Order: sequence, then structure tokens, then C-alpha cells
Amino acid sequence: MPSPTVDRAARYPLGAGIRLDALASDPYPALAELRRQEPVSWVPETGMWFVTRRDDVLTVLRDPETFTTDTPESTIRDIFGAHMMTTEGATQLRYKKKCMPPFQVRRLEEEALSGLEREVARLVNGFDSGGEAELCRVLARPIALHSVLSRLGLPLDQTARVNEWYEHFARALANFQGDPGLRAAGKAAAAQFRRALQPILDDLSRSPDRSLLSDLVCDHADPLTREEIESNALIILFGGIETTESMIANAIWALLAHPSEWGRIKDGRVRVDEAIEETLRWEPAVQSATRHATRRVTLRGAVIEDGEAVQCMLGAANRDPAHFSDPDRFDIRRPDAGDHLAFAIGRHFCLGASLARLETRVAIEALVDRLPGLHLDPDRETSPHGYEFRKPETLWVRW
Ligand code: HEM
Repeated sequence: MPSPTVDRAARYPLGAGIRLDALASDPYPALAELRRQEPVSWVPETGMWFVTRRDDVLTVLRDPETFTTDTPESTIRDIFGAHMMTTEGATQLRYKKKCMPPFQVRRLEEEALSGLEREVARLVNGFDSGGEAELCRVLARPIALHSVLSRLGLPLDQTARVNEWYEHFARALANFQGDPGLRAAGKAAAAQFRRALQPILDDLSRSPDRSLLSDLVCDHADPLTREEIESNALIILFGGIETTESMIANAIWALLAHPSEWGRIKDGRVRVDEAIEETLRWEPAVQSATRHATRRVTLRGAVIEDGEAVQCMLGAANRDPAHFSDPDRFDIRRPDAGDHLAFAIGRHFCLGASLARLETRVAIEALVDRLPGLHLDPDRETSPHGYEFRKPETLWVRW
């Protein structure tokens, strides 16, 4: 495999100029330039190809034979083992099919909605009576934790422990420098999770409920092994916490930062569900989906070598003017907002998309109902930040 060469820097000058800390503040102008001039570009700072046009992102994500998640280099497999996100073909399909039913809209409405509404009401009741709150800490994060634990079937009194494991996972997965201490701590946290799961799985096999772990442990026709259950539970747990916290925070921030759009929601002229799709298009929490080439392949003239990593830039695809008119404008009445790729597409389409949408809807409806005059705190300005995962560090509001 060739190393990124001077040739590539000359061929892809915009990619060579990409700096991740600049992307983290506001990725969209640089991504727009790439999309226009170097739609498949080599970015030396990441050692990966960036793909920024919506059509090309679709091509990559719909072709798992050529662009795979199944690679020995995957840190997410190193820490969590083999699960739906790091397998392809029949194995991936089997894992996904077994985990999907509790995340489907009908079961969510029947089994998760009322508990979620109660939890959100409890959280809002607990807000400071002084008329201000930091919504990531007191609303978005607790909703995400509560929902993913409940849907998996993990006891809610384990929330603090899960949060602690989560932090180790997040550090191990962002360990781009290869620090052995961070990797060891991530693996140790995963091993603790696997041990803690055993008595829970034993209990669920004796007294089943309607959760995912219960479904999996009571499946006697074609059961997953305990190790497979644990690894898939790990990716679901990891996939469902910070992503959803960020989605909720980004949606609230985007709406409050556009008071006229917030007004349309408050007076019922636009449904919350529709507005959420535009927030997902305009400021998606997960900005990229990474694949590895299984052979030498040419994509829009760029020669990608066997094994090289390709980052599909979802936020860039969501603002592609070839598909969305006036794409930088935030407009909750946009008829095709739902064509966004915030949850990716293809075999690895997000398992938790419907749950995350439900959580965001319930959160926004509670704010509309309960906090009249809600607005961003003008003294503590904020906006989403980050290149792979974007969210505001804090989200202070007043009412
Ligand atoms: C309840 C919350 C969530 C859960 C349980 C969850 C879980 C998962 C899982 C298990 C996968 C892997 C699916 C597969 O490989 O077949 C996945 C993929 C993905 N999720 Fe989620 N997720 C949640 C929320 C979110 C949110 C809020 C976003 C962004 C707004 C998001 C974005 C994605 C993306 C982009 C992928 C595809 C990654 C790829 O193809 O490389 N997820 N999710």
C-alpha cells in the first residue's frame, strides 16, 4: 500500500490543506469546496480519503463488497469484538435481524414511549426553578442513557456504571495515537460489562420481558452465543448514548437559533417530526461513515488502493446542492429534508434511528409544552463543535 505521497498532496491541494481543528469549528465551507473541486480527496491529516458528494457517498455505502467495515484495523472491533458494525454479509445480516425488532417503530410506540414520556417529564420537573438550565447535562444525556438501557433490558440503577464504562470506550475509540493505556482501559471496561451482563441474562432467560436482551436470550431457534450477544449489546450501548445526546442537543440548538422556525413548531404550523428531519440534515451528530477498500478501485477519477480508508462525509452529502436547493439554509418546511444521510444508508443503516427520533420528539414536545418563552442564553453563546461527532459542549437556555 503506498504511503500518502507528495504526488497526492499536489493532486489534491484542498485535501492537503484540511486541518481537523478548523473542520471541528465549522466544517461546512471547507466541505463545500471539496465537494465542488475535489469530491474524492486525499486528506493527509487523517490518512483517509474524504468523499463529499451525496451520489458518491451512496455509491460507497451501497457497495459493501468493495467498501467494507470488516477490517482487522478496526478499533471498534478490537474493543467490542465482532458485531453488526464490523461484519458484513450473512453474519452481519443475522446479527442485525435479531437485534432489529425492539427498535422498530411499532414496538417502540408500544413498549418505550410511555416510559420515555414519564422520564422526560421527571427530568423537566427537576429543572432549576430560576428559569435557566444546561440542557445537555439535565436533559439530553439522561434521556439517551435511560432509553438505551431500557431498550436493551439493563437495570436503570446501573446508569452511573454504564456512564463510566462509556467514557473508557469513547477514549479508547478516539485513541488515534495508539496509546496502550487507553486501549487497555477500554478493553477492561468491555470485559467488566461482559461480566456484569451474565446475571442479567440469566434473570431474563428465567423471567423474560420485552427488551432486546430478553429477546436474544430467549431465542432458542437459532440463538446467538453469549459472546455474540455481549458484543452486539456493546455496540448498541456505545452507539446509542453520545450520538443521541448530540442529536437532541443539535436539534434544540438549531431550532432555538432560528426563532422563526421555533415559532412554527410552537404554534403547530410544522410538525415536530418534520422539523427533526431538517435538524438531522443540517447539523448531523455523526459526520462520517468509514469504510475500507477491499481492492484497488477508482472513484470519480481517484485511485483508492486496497485496504485504504474512505470517510463518507455525511454532513457534506446532506448539503449537496445537486440534491438539496439552497442547502446551507435551515428550513423546517423543506419537503425533501428526509433524504438526509444522517443515519447512513445500506446494510449498516443506524439500528437506533427510530428510537433516537422518538427521544428527540418527546424532548422537544416537553420543552414546547412546559417552558414558555424558551430561548438560548445570550450570555452563554454556543454552537456544535467537532469533526467526526458534533454537538455543543453546553446548551444553556432560559425561559
Ligand atoms: C438509540 C440510539 C442509537 C442506537 C442504539 C444506535 C445504534 C447503532 C448501531 C448498532 C449501528 C450499527 C448498525 C449496523 O452496522 O448494522 C449504528 C449505525 C449508525 N448510527 Fe446509530 N445509534 C443510535 C443513534 C444514532 C444517532 C442519533 C445518529 C446520528 C444522528 C446515529 C448515526 C449512525 C450512523 C451514521 C450509523 C452508520 C455508520 C456506518 O455505516 O458506518 N446513530 N447505530
